[in-house]
Amino acid sequence: MTKHIKNICCIGAGYVGGPTMAVIADRCHNISVNVVDINKDRINRWNNPDVSQIPIYEPGLSDIVLRRRGKNLHFSTSLKENIAKADMIFISVNTPTKTKGIGAGKASDLKWVESSARQISKFAKGFTIVVEKSTLPVKTAQVIKEILESSKKENHNSFSVLSNPEFLAEGTAINDLENPDRVLIGGDDQQSIEQLSNVYLNWIKKEKIITTNLWSSELSKLISNAFLAQRISSINSVSALCETTGADIKEVSEAIRTDKRIGKYFLNPGPGFGGSCFKKDISNLVYICDYYGLKEVSAYWQKVLDINNWQSERILNIIVKNLFGTLSGKKISILGFAFKANTNDTRESPAIKICKGLIEEGALLKIYDPKVEEFQIEKDLGQPQLIKNDNNSGWNFSKSLLDSTKSADAIVILTEWLEFEQIDWEEVAPMMRKPSFIFDTRGISNINDAEKYGIKCWRIGSNLNNKYYDK
Ligand code: NAD
Ligand code: UGA
Repeated sequence: MTKHIKNICCIGAGYVGGPTMAVIADRCHNISVNVVDINKDRINRWNNPDVSQIPIYEPGLSDIVLRRRGKNLHFSTSLKENIAKADMIFISVNTPTKTKGIGAGKASDLKWVESSARQISKFAKGFTIVVEKSTLPVKTAQVIKEILESSKKENHNSFSVLSNPEFLAEGTAINDLENPDRVLIGGDDQQSIEQLSNVYLNWIKKEKIITTNLWSSELSKLISNAFLAQRISSINSVSALCETTGADIKEVSEAIRTDKRIGKYFLNPGPGFGGSCFKKDISNLVYICDYYGLKEVSAYWQKVLDINNWQSERILNIIVKNLFGTLSGKKISILGFAFKANTNDTRESPAIKICKGLIEEGALLKIYDPKVEEFQIEKDLGQPQLIKNDNNSGWNFSKSLLDSTKSADAIVILTEWLEFEQIDWEEVAPMMRKPSFIFDTRGISNINDAEKYGIKCWRIGSNLNNKYYDK
């Protein structure tokens, strides 16, 4: 008979571990869920009595934390104790790109996964199911198994390893976890697969649970991200073609998305994809293909990354050229710094590269994002903000849209926050310096309205404003 899981431990209280475990705790009141992390500060923030201070902003998350924290959801730094009492352990640690050594810039750095496996092997008691939640290169389960097996005799424990990659997207994480398109479980031990399935069956229909072998599951996660990123690079490449030919990207995406075979999602052009995963996962895919000698395959996926870089550089050049080739003494309002709307995450945000480039060209940026904090922007740009609003190039933090746009020469929309879709141009336009410009890299603002109030507009994937852009 399949044993029921009573105690879960999750190693890693980040963007995946935190929300995923919160939803499991919310849907399975009979399971005690313990999220552990080596980062004390992060754990303190998860335990902050004021739930608005938890370290991750995700719509709906703080309500769940408020409901379950202290009942069957716990955050702590006590790895040893929580690993020892767990029937099932999720590894949800970071797997960034290696910065040095073999595979630097491409391969995943697995040192945090390895150290988690070592801790599990040391502290686990009896039989424990170990679940890979982190995104990992195909065949990593083999490494985890070897580490776990190495000391099982002296520590009197045994393990089964499953792969259960996470497909949530930031900003919609809670809905994605509560109503996933699918749950993928890879493994070779049927009983363990059943035990993990039983956890999900508390709120997810059986038909949505896909089971595969370990390697298919690990690889499917990388491929899923690669396909999504490929669509963005495709639509971004077409945005450039639209700007030069007179086609309009909005009309083109509308026309192609109605074909069921193409599908309606991920056809919005932008300044390039950001986020913690697409770049690292595709780099990793490129590395794996090279490793197995598949040069053509690796070159194919590398192109997705190349187009992404090119798109943000292209946009930076367009802004500089439109502003008469020099930004010195110009104020630019930056609307949005997060890599997408509804998150405070800035990892790999195209805003970072574009803002650095604008500062280098001599601009003074007034940066406003509804959720990104001042210290994060300072960290990402690698320079403190200017104390005085003088004519130096650099950046200032703005607490509101109006503060950011006041006396600006140009507005650059970089994140698709709803607030920016709804800008009241009648209010904003008179406060800007003339001639005023807007560069809408997400294609969300009401350009017609802005033009009515005398602003020169550039919108991604449209040549409506070729007159201002000297190619
Ligand atoms: P993150 O950096 O937000 O969180 C990882 C946490 O793990 C950190 O708080 C870190 O301190 C902790 N940690 C590292 N080593 C540890 C150890 N030995 N013991 C205890 N804690 C340790 O990362 P994330 O965004 O949650 O991503 C985690 C994994 O999930 C990655 O592999 C990522 O590719 C994957 N993923 C992320 C997303 C996303 O939207 N962010 C979505 C799907 C999958
Ligand atoms: C992505 C995937 O969507 C998730 O399924 C996956 O679990 C996750 O990566 C991961 O493995 O980390 P996420 O990065 O949170 O999720 O957000 P997305 O909605 O995929 O957006 C990624 C980037 O693409 C953002 O910068 C976004 O602005 C951009 N994007 C997205 C576009 O430019 N156009 C689109 O049409 C869609």
